[in-house]
Amino acid sequence: MDAYAREMYDVVGIGFGPSNLSLAIALEEHEANVSAGPISAAFFERQPSFGWHRNMLLPSATMQISFLKDLATFRNPVSRYSFIAYLHTSGRLVQFVNNQNFFPTRQEFHQYLEWAESNFSDRVSYGSEVTAIRLAPESVPGESGHLQVEVRQGITGVRRTVDARNVVISTGLVPRMPSGVERDDRVWHSSEFLQKYRQIETHDLKRVAVVGAGQSAAEITRFLHDALPHARVYAVIPSYGYSVADDTPFANQVFDPAAVDDYYFGTEQTREAFWRYHKNTNYSVVDDEIIRDLHRRSYDEDVRNDRRLYFLNLTRVRDVQRAGTELRVRLHSLLDTESEPLDVDALVFATGYDTMQPTGLLGDLDRYCLRDEAGRYRAERDYRLVTTPELPCGIYLQGGTEHTHGLTSSLLSNVAVRSGEIADSIIHRRAGQGLEPVVSLDAAARTG
Ligand code: FDA
Ligand code: NAP
Repeated sequence: MDAYAREMYDVVGIGFGPSNLSLAIALEEHEANVSAGPISAAFFERQPSFGWHRNMLLPSATMQISFLKDLATFRNPVSRYSFIAYLHTSGRLVQFVNNQNFFPTRQEFHQYLEWAESNFSDRVSYGSEVTAIRLAPESVPGESGHLQVEVRQGITGVRRTVDARNVVISTGLVPRMPSGVERDDRVWHSSEFLQKYRQIETHDLKRVAVVGAGQSAAEITRFLHDALPHARVYAVIPSYGYSVADDTPFANQVFDPAAVDDYYFGTEQTREAFWRYHKNTNYSVVDDEIIRDLHRRSYDEDVRNDRRLYFLNLTRVRDVQRAGTELRVRLHSLLDTESEPLDVDALVFATGYDTMQPTGLLGDLDRYCLRDEAGRYRAERDYRLVTTPELPCGIYLQGGTEHTHGLTSSLLSNVAVRSGEIADSIIHRRAGQGLEPVVSLDAAARTG
């Protein structure tokens, strides 16, 4: 029998990206205030070790939010897990301030996340994919019971089951490809970019194309233009040109913690207005700096009469045919009804992501989960799925709640506050149910 099977956890976290890492911190910092005893938690992550969009850790990529929107500060400004605490520990706080920049590189922020994660490795199982959640057989619907979480170990494929009173699903965004296009060793989605790029002989890449007009597309286009000085780089852009991400102060308020209430308690019209006016804070938009850099490169090539960076505007991909190592891309341009096919050696689809979708994990539990008129999951303000009274356990979402909680659902902006709200909810509901604290083996060891 494995160690987990003997235990009942207050919380099992599914996925260990920034959201559930922030939750682990919130639970730990809450423990000091929980007179009823510590909350026991275990997290399962399918990657072999911690990683935050590693395949997009491009050398010059910067964060798209202030470093102060870290894992903890907005919830607890004196947290020992803040970005400032990390800088202090690393001996870079003074130079960071001299740098006068709100936006660290993604590489530095990744180091911060790894530093924070190192304090929680006793609670995380890596190489562990959660494949299903179900109601434990001994549960009595509507009265008592708990959840069982099924986990598959990466290398061995061995399955084990963990018991939980609550689960927090935080499995992240799902890469989106145009319908009918299959990925292979030369057709990549941006989410796998660096891994695929490192596997290919780069001197074979004489012509490459990047599809999309969002931040990922612009960053990859710039990277390939730098990394392949011998290659032609085509940017296939559905708009007439890249549009800027609005991060000016008033628009940025849509990412404030208070905006979650305005969105959640607003009317359908309120929510529609958020999207109509402010989608351009995040989707299909690019940071000002990179737009100007790409334009300057293009202009310099004109001046030198040596063009290898091409922008195919108002253009989408119709289909892709493969012949050996060559790819023939059929394009659909709104400027030219007779678009020429484009032959390339590699093709990157920076075509965005679908929202987190927990249906597959929920399986039969889905019948307890209520949906709105559009068929989307209903969620409480505390991110708990609205379920029928038969389900005596909590299923919380970190992600996948854009329709109920707004634009921050898939972002870092509100991660500290959101995790705190989920931790509060779990702790208060436990107290309300009069449940005895469950002390995990880890927690027992820690409290000695
Ligand atoms: P995230 O996707 O990070 O983590 C989910 C984890 O769950 C993954 O580690 C995955 O392996 C794991 N998992 C999935 N299924 C599983 C299963 N069945 N069992 C176990 N584990 C499972 N936002 C922002 O506010 N500022 C920014 O600067 C950026 N930058 C940025 C760069 C890039 C390249 C992308 C693609 C996105 C961003 N984002 C962003 C948005 C992004 O969603 C956000 O930064 C976080 O990744 C959200 O953290 P999560 O933990 O919710 O998801
Ligand atoms: P995105 O913003 O959703 O952009 C996807 C782009 O692909 C859009 O321009 C979309 O056009 C286009 N597209 C979709 N299907 C297409 C097709 N068939 N043909 C041509 N174009 C197509 O996705 P993203 O750029 O990956 O960004 C996702 C999230 O990650 C955002 O939150 C972003 O801020 C974040 N991110 C952050 C960083 C960073 O921190 N440095 C880096 C990368 C990404 P339409 O608009 O017409 O659909």
